Amino acid sequence: MTMQTQMLIDGRWRDGVDSERIDVLDPATEDLVAEVSAGTPADAVAACDAAAAAQPGWAAAPPRTRSETLRACYEILVAHSGELAELITREHGKPTADALAEVAYSAEFFRWNAEEAVRIHGTVSTAPAGDKRVITRHPPVGVVAMITPWNFPAAMITRKVAPALAAGNAVVIKPARDTPLTALRVAGLLEEAGVPPGVVNVVPTRASGDWLDAVVDHRAVRMLSFTGSTEVGKMLLRRCADRVLKVGMELGGNAPFIVFADADLDAAIEGAMVAKMRHSAETCVSANRFFVESPVHDEFVERLGAAMGALKVGNGLEPGVECGPMINASAIASIDGLVQGALQNGARTVTGGGPLDRPGFFYEPTVLAGVDPSSPITREEIFGPVAPVATFDDTDAVIAAANDTEMGLMGYVYTTDLAKGLRVSERIEAGMVGLNRGILSDPAAPFGGMKQSGLGREGASEGIYEFCETQYIATNW
Ligand code: SIN
Repeated sequence: MTMQTQMLIDGRWRDGVDSERIDVLDPATEDLVAEVSAGTPADAVAACDAAAAAQPGWAAAPPRTRSETLRACYEILVAHSGELAELITREHGKPTADALAEVAYSAEFFRWNAEEAVRIHGTVSTAPAGDKRVITRHPPVGVVAMITPWNFPAAMITRKVAPALAAGNAVVIKPARDTPLTALRVAGLLEEAGVPPGVVNVVPTRASGDWLDAVVDHRAVRMLSFTGSTEVGKMLLRRCADRVLKVGMELGGNAPFIVFADADLDAAIEGAMVAKMRHSAETCVSANRFFVESPVHDEFVERLGAAMGALKVGNGLEPGVECGPMINASAIASIDGLVQGALQNGARTVTGGGPLDRPGFFYEPTVLAGVDPSSPITREEIFGPVAPVATFDDTDAVIAAANDTEMGLMGYVYTTDLAKGLRVSERIEAGMVGLNRGILSDPAAPFGGMKQSGLGREGASEGIYEFCETQYIATNW
């Protein structure tokens, strides 16, 4: 396994100007995995300068050249799947099977965008008055700053970088402090695959605020793309307003998971387990609130409790582990605070209910029944292996409850009545709905949220246009 611990600026690996380091811990053991160079504002500025210098040449390359480079990126990530998966598990903790799935997902963003790079279409039309031609074209934004989270150390980078590069941009990435190793290794592989020096720069840092100021105030930077919490997203939006930067915001979720009495319960349990537990339940699309129609409530709760209770929890590197550690100690404190709050409000524990008493940051897979809707657990993103379940009898009431949140990223609906399922799905205020499906993520589909869950979409054909401007040329000929 290759571990890169320096930052990547202008195609060169180097330490930061003041030699500060970031300790990367294995969340399964709390052992030190590596010390990574921590960037200062001067390093961030150097990365933006490098990106600004490299971007025009990359944008001028024929789309076919960019496409073929992206295809080579796809191939190199696939060829290094095992190594990248091990790195992901070492610094994030997720089980190897999830880490391998993440690498495949990450690589697919390059394959998809390699195919899209040659199809960034503008338009030509005649103005209604007949006085001119209206030409529209989509040049790249320029230099894009990216702030990425720890929950998908590879995929949340490639989901942004692949379309940005396809469109002809250069990027400066700040990976999460908990998981910089994967980001650095991915960036190194992209250069090996032929991405020119300076087009992808990675500057980890301990001082996020200073990094942000340096990057936002850099004249060449024209966009900030962020994945993370809504709270931080709002702060970034305010800061980006100072320079009217374009933004892409993938923010928090609070996904309802609705099971109607006519649902195929086997499918609903299977979907619930995926929607809740994929990547150790640390995703923004994780099912956060379960609503089960009363005739099937007890059976659903019993079966979900049995499935959650049977999960093998442990170090993600061990064979057969299905739920790894949480990212750090404060994640455990936050999850447990929500569980204890729900119990104080009258919920009952079906299975689990607390942290595991062992080294590392482990929480028992937990199911809570009879959760009061006023409990904080129904309003906040849990980001951990806890399934709070409530019951319902009325379709309008459950839709109102599902929508009673400022978040609108994802919803799940289970019913064998497809017409009802589509009617309900259309009324869920979320950017994505899984109808009889517990997993939706796909590079070919638009990922993103409504309400306070975000701005813009990643993936699909439209994802690439997020990293483009629209220019209109009024023409006489
Ligand atoms: C996320 O948690 O931000 C992404 C989840 C996914 O892409 O499936």
